[in-house]
Amino acid sequence: MGKLVLRTKLCDMLGIEYPILSAGMGPNLLGEETGAPVDLVVAVSEAGGLGVLGASGYSIGEMRDAIREIKSRTDKPFGVDILLPKNIVELEEGAGSGETPLSELLRSLPQGHQDWIKKVLADLDLPEVDIMVKMDTTTLRPREAIKVCLEEKVPLFCAGLGNPGFMVEEAHANGIKVLAITGNTKNARRMAQSGIDLLVAQGHEAGGHTGRIGTMALVPACIDAAYPVPVLAAGGIGDGRGLAAALAMGCVGVWVGTRFLATEEAGALDVIKKHIVEASDEDTRVSTMFTGKTLRSITSKFHTLWDESGLEPLPFPLQMLVSSYLLAAFIRANKEEYVGAFAGQVSGLIKDIKPAREVLEEMVGEAVDILQHRLPENVITS
Ligand SMILES: Cc1cc2nc3c(=O)[nH]c(=O)nc-3n(C[C@H](O)[C@H](O)[C@H](O)COP(=O)(O)O)c2cc1C
Repeated sequence: MGKLVLRTKLCDMLGIEYPILSAGMGPNLLGEETGAPVDLVVAVSEAGGLGVLGASGYSIGEMRDAIREIKSRTDKPFGVDILLPKNIVELEEGAGSGETPLSELLRSLPQGHQDWIKKVLADLDLPEVDIMVKMDTTTLRPREAIKVCLEEKVPLFCAGLGNPGFMVEEAHANGIKVLAITGNTKNARRMAQSGIDLLVAQGHEAGGHTGRIGTMALVPACIDAAYPVPVLAAGGIGDGRGLAAALAMGCVGVWVGTRFLATEEAGALDVIKKHIVEASDEDTRVSTMFTGKTLRSITSKFHTLWDESGLEPLPFPLQMLVSSYLLAAFIRANKEEYVGAFAGQVSGLIKDIKPAREVLEEMVGEAVDILQHRLPENVITS
């Protein structure tokens, strides 16, 4: 059989073969390997999609190194995803440099949160841990991170949080396309008007930070709200059926997270990949426990502890200090049932860990089959 063809306007815009982007997925909260590291980016881009580096937990230097490594390993287009918190200036003024022990940072948190951490350690007989926290991550220094992306002329800049409209002009001057992500039509309209090139409409089903509107309702509404900016669908897309449905709704492509997290090249810990494969569609939930913003992950005993604490989450990204400390302790004590992977409802559809190329090729093959054969066989239109 010859090479499959599945092209949309997105392929022409980005110079890629298939309209599939692997989503930017930042590191676990311990700052260990990012969910979407160089290996995954290269694999997806080489397979004809577009791989997006999850750079939200990298230091500025690590991000630059990763970008250069991608360039040395593929000449295909790729993307870089960072988060643009609302309070950028405040964060950057407060950010230090180098690394600081997490235990030291915890002392600046409200007493109630500190006491709760101590109680959990005591109740579960967890070890005291000390991990070092990077103080110059792209999330804490987004303006510096943007500068590096401009200097490196990354083909696609992706803002996982916030509106990147303010940097579009400079990006375009450097030949860079800009993508933003929304979970509602209000932001879709606002972002589209700010000059971005591509918009991802990400539904409630999605892994990681997520909004309240389901993908099926959100996507067509965002296509209307963002017109003429092209829209990609995200949230719950794990195979060719999801891809074909997104294209049928009028999307130019898809932005896929959880399915690519469960691949050989993704950077997630093995225990995280295992949880995704074992999870059913009912095994994820949304909580503010991890970052202070609504975030979907596999349900774990950590959720129960947090729900029972009666505490309010700290604003993003401060809540990450609380959850990171406890996650480190759970992992150190091998308490897997407390370690919930960031993952979407589509986990229920994922039964194996395989190479990213295989995921992509199967997705394309199934979508082509649906569009060419299954739909015409199933549906009578005249
Ligand atoms: C482990 C994990 C980490 C994520 N980290 C980020 C991130 O750093 N930046 C971002 O824009 N989105 C992040 N996301 C969201 C994804 O980019 C994407 O929008 C989402 O996974 C799509 O839904 P799906 O998981 O159903 O495919 C993350 C998702 C997961 C599963």
